[in-house]
Amino acid sequence: MSVVHVDPIGIDLEVAVGETVMTAARGAGFVWPTVCDASASCGTCVSVVEDGLENCGEMPADERETLARTLVPLDGKRRLACRLTVTGPVSLKKRGVHAVEDGSQ
Ligand code: FES
Repeated sequence: MSVVHVDPIGIDLEVAVGETVMTAARGAGFVWPTVCDASASCGTCVSVVEDGLENCGEMPADERETLARTLVPLDGKRRLACRLTVTGPVSLKKRGVHAVEDGSQ
């Protein structure tokens, strides 16, 4: 289990080995922006790794293809939360993450 801090909402998510950040967020009661429902095709979930880059899992091919197609720089810091796994503490920035109780998707 690793902790992923997400700003600007300021939450800490517990992410299990092999689990994606988006899945962990949903399990904890948060909505992560998506159009494709986590199928790695829309690019909407893209997040910026601010710390802990060395703890981020390898980028799968479908994530790389979507980032390239949506013109997101392949610098390793921009990652799709629906594909991002972690092996240690990571800090991310992603606007639009909110609690389910907020009522909007
Ligand atoms: S949710 Fe669509 S690419 Fe991640």
